[in-house]
Amino acid sequence: MRAIAFEQLGQPDVLKVVNVPTPEPGPGQVAIDVVWSGVNFADAKARSAGYRVPQLPFVPGLEVSGTVRALGPGVTGLTVGQHVAAMLPGGGYAETVVAAAEATFAVPDALDLRDAAALITVLATGYGLLHDVARLREGETVLVQGAAGGVGTVTGQLARAAGAGRVFGVVSRPDKAEHARKFGYDEVLVGADFDEQVLKATDGRGVDVALDPVGGDSWRRSVASLARYGRAVSYGNAGGEAPWNADFAELSPRAISVGAFSVLTLGAGDPAALRSLTDRAFREAERAGITLPVTAEFPLDEAARAHQLLESRSSTGKLLLRVR
Ligand SMILES: NC(=O)c1ccc[n+]([C@@H]2O[C@H](COP(=O)([O-])OP(=O)(O)OC[C@H]3O[C@@H](n4cnc5c(N)ncnc54)[C@H](OP(=O)(O)O)[C@@H]3O)[C@@H](O)[C@H]2O)c1
Repeated sequence: MRAIAFEQLGQPDVLKVVNVPTPEPGPGQVAIDVVWSGVNFADAKARSAGYRVPQLPFVPGLEVSGTVRALGPGVTGLTVGQHVAAMLPGGGYAETVVAAAEATFAVPDALDLRDAAALITVLATGYGLLHDVARLREGETVLVQGAAGGVGTVTGQLARAAGAGRVFGVVSRPDKAEHARKFGYDEVLVGADFDEQVLKATDGRGVDVALDPVGGDSWRRSVASLARYGRAVSYGNAGGEAPWNADFAELSPRAISVGAFSVLTLGAGDPAALRSLTDRAFREAERAGITLPVTAEFPLDEAARAHQLLESRSSTGKLLLRVR
């Protein structure tokens, strides 16, 4: 079967088409014939910086949708030919993948496979950030970085659906603000001085919840945007700066809290918890009519173009690879 792999870290052109044996499912696993493979920012970080790459060569890809090809010993509740979506620790840029049954979800008839691939990781991430980590309460104000991207597009809508008061997004360019405003955001701020803009917009109070996938200066400004008792959650390091830390002197004056979240780490350490989170997230998406536009799709062989677009900072919504 065909897959996309890289043998060395580098620019998108290290992504090559390879022919590898079709994998067979072991106990507790499901083989899936992939129709769509989702492109995540973490895939680009894997390729450029070795993020979560245990060894080379490596096939990136954290989410797929498709049909069940075969069930491994002990797997119940799924049937061959069924439509499913799955989260993976890597390996999703391939014609066939093997996923843990616990991380494989039946796709309801009402949802097509394209939407299922687009939504699975971002929904679980946005829902986990708002509800399980930040513990958003009705009426609270929320600030989301990267508001026009995959996670950001869904998180604005989830915050709105949860009864948030004002939902602020942050983007790097005005044209992205137009996209984000259609997806739950009341106000979309443009520029690195978003903390000052937030304080101005809230009469100096700040926000209750700030979600930051960028790190570095963006993280510091997210923390600076918090109101008393506010919570900031770090969930990525798109900017590639040194890890953050926090101390009593910084947090205690406004009694603020900082936290962190990784859907991949959750899935690796506690698959049942990830399953529960994903089920809740999909129920909420169905109830609230959450959508995520696929703004670009590429054939599997052109995965490098998808990475170029994602890293150009000009993409909005979700990017997918069309595998069959
Ligand atoms: N912790 C988790 O569980 C989890 C799960 C999924 C994703 N994530 C993180 O969430 C973020 C969004 O992921 P996604 O897959 O949905 O991607 P995405 O939002 O579609 O694209 C990445 C976004 O990051 C922003 N960005 C900020 N600094 C950047 C930089 N130096 N280079 C490139 N982009 C930069 C860009 O928005 P602006 O140009 O508007 O700033 C860009 O739109 C990523 O940081 C990812 O690692 C975390």
